[in-house]
Formats: sequence, C-alpha cells, structure tokens
Amino acid sequence: MTAELLTDKVAEGNRLAAAGNLDAAAKLFLDALNDDGTDLEAAYGLGTVALHIGEYPRALEIAGLITSAQPNSIKYLHLHGEAALYAKRAEEAVAIFRRLLALDPDNEDARKRLISAMLPGESYYHLLARLHPLLRPATYIEIGVDRGRSLSLAGPECRAIGIDPAPVVDVDFQGTPDIHTVTSDAFFAEQDVPALLGQPHFDLAFIDGLHTFDQALKDFINLTEYAAPHSVILMHDCYPLDAASCTRDRTTNIWSGDVWKVVCALRFAVPDIDLVAIKTPPTGLGLAKNCDGLYERLNARYNELVETFRDRDFDWLAEDMDGRLNAIPNDWQAILRHLGEG
Ligand SMILES: C[S@@+](CC[C@H](N)C(=O)[O-])C[C@H]1O[C@@H](n2cnc3c(N)ncnc32)[C@H](O)[C@@H]1O
Repeated sequence: MTAELLTDKVAEGNRLAAAGNLDAAAKLFLDALNDDGTDLEAAYGLGTVALHIGEYPRALEIAGLITSAQPNSIKYLHLHGEAALYAKRAEEAVAIFRRLLALDPDNEDARKRLISAMLPGESYYHLLARLHPLLRPATYIEIGVDRGRSLSLAGPECRAIGIDPAPVVDVDFQGTPDIHTVTSDAFFAEQDVPALLGQPHFDLAFIDGLHTFDQALKDFINLTEYAAPHSVILMHDCYPLDAASCTRDRTTNIWSGDVWKVVCALRFAVPDIDLVAIKTPPTGLGLAKNCDGLYERLNARYNELVETFRDRDFDWLAEDMDGRLNAIPNDWQAILRHLGEG
C-alpha cells in the first residue's frame, strides 16, 4: 500500500466519523493500521471513535501510544486527556492537560477540561450560596464586588459592606449593602470598620479583589484586625490550575493570579493557622477561621513574607500542591466538619 492510499483511507475514515458513521470509520482506521501499524493519524482516528462510543479504556490505551510517539502534538494530547478524564483517571488527565497547556498556554478549552479533572463538583459560587444561610452572618465584608453576584448572596438582615474601586453592579441585592467605591487599602486606612459594622468584628468576609499575592495577603491581614474566633474569612482563587493561569500578570482568560501564595505564606508564618483550600472549581476557595489575634503578628512580617514567597513558582507548588495548600475535598460534609458544623 502506498503512503497516498493510506492517507486517503484515513481521510475517508475521518469523513465517515464526522458524518456520524462511527462503525464504518473504525473499520477504515483499523484497515489502515493493518497496512501500517505505525500510522499515528489512523490510530488517532480509532482512538477518537473509541472515545465517542464510550470505550474509554481502549481510547486511553490508543491515546497513550500516540502521545508517547509524538509527545508535543496538541491534538493527540487533547485526546489523551479526554480519554483519561472519561476513564476516570483524574491524575493522568491532570498531568496530560498540564503538559498540553505548557505547550499551548492559551488553550482555554484544555484549561476547562483540566478544571473538570482537578476540581470536580460545585463551583465556589454555589459554595458561597450554601455558606451564607449556614453561617447566617450578621456582618459581612466583601473585597471585590464587580457586578455584585457574590455580594447579592448576603441575606436581607446582614449588614454587608462591599469594597471595590470600580463596581459595575447589575444585580438586585437582598438587603442594602454599603458599597465603598475605593481600593481595599484606602478603605482600611480611612474607615472606622467597627462603627460601619455596628460591632467590633465581622462574621464572614470574602477576599476577591486585586488578584496579586501581596495585595491579597494585605487584605487578609487587614481583615484579621476585625476577626473574632468564629469569624470566617474566604479567599477566592487559592488552588491554581497550571503555570500560565497563575502568574501575577494576566495572560489567560481563566486566571487566578498568584493568590495561592497567600495560603503558603500564612501557613509559613503561623504553622497552626486554621486555614484550608477547598478544591472547588474553577480555582479553589480558601477558608480560614480562628484568626483573631493574628493581626500584629502577621502585619509585622508582611514585607518578609512578600519577599519570601513572591518568586515561588507553580512548579514549586506542584511538588506537593495539596500539602502546601492544606487542601480539602470539595465535599459539603467535609466542609461542614471543618467548620465544626458536621
Ligand atoms: C473577580 S471581581 C469580583 C467578583 C465578585 N466577588 C463576584 O464573585 O461576583 C474582582 C473585583 O475586584 C476589584 N478590585 C480590583 N482591585 C481592587 C482593590 N485594590 N480593592 C478592592 N477591589 C478591587 C475589581 O474592580 C473587580 O470588580
């Protein structure tokens, strides 16, 4: 068989597969592989058909062979990642999609698949929607309001404060939040926070403002000044996906900034801090409590912590991501237990 005939056979297989005639396509791909067992395009076609008809272990086996032969092919890596995901081999899917994203950092489709593999279950927003009625905070501080989606979860009786230099609210709130159109630094420098709250402490806070490590760390520290033992501090974007989507400067659509370093820095400064990263999509949610009394201690070490962690990179974190972030599963019962409510 000439190379040309083989190419025609594979092309016809692809045409049949695109038309939904998967059995006939599979026969042609197999036929082509009988002619030349090393034809990667025929194997790719067969693997794709196997994936479509639900033969996930077979798709995974084929995809593994073709990505070994050609480790830098985006298309082959995508098939491999998909097959691993459907075959419920989450760790393999994560490794493959990360490898793909290292080669093609703008591939948002692959990043979405990586999220499915890494962080299954309800999103951070659904988790916030569960936490508000569970904790019923009388006072709430939110840093980073944007359209008001997360702020709108505060109940009608809650005294809610929103902080954002450029909010673009387009939702209806349950109560009447007090929105301060300033940066978080200006807010903490200028405002009498207990007077605004009507009590010395907040019950719940959510950090979702500027997504740089040093700013999110400062936001966390500033909040601890008004924390009681029961106060819960939530922090978005604590569980990053891959190197390109957790840089300080944004280059990708799905992006978490380098906020994850806040978790590492806090755990370094206060080894027994009551802080976990919940593995919720798209990029994790930090949850801290018992943070009263930490303000002086952390504030005194702010510059040192920024210096120590600023240049840590994703590869360092990936050596022991769950350990370094003290990660817990995205499981409501596990979260309740962590909150002492289970
Ligand atoms: C991801 S959005 C917040 C989304 C919102 N929490 C939600 O889930 O619906 C981030 C917001 O942080 C705001 N922001 C940026 N820098 C800030 C700062 N220094 N202090 C407070 N907010 C800031 C931006 O204007 C933007 O609206």
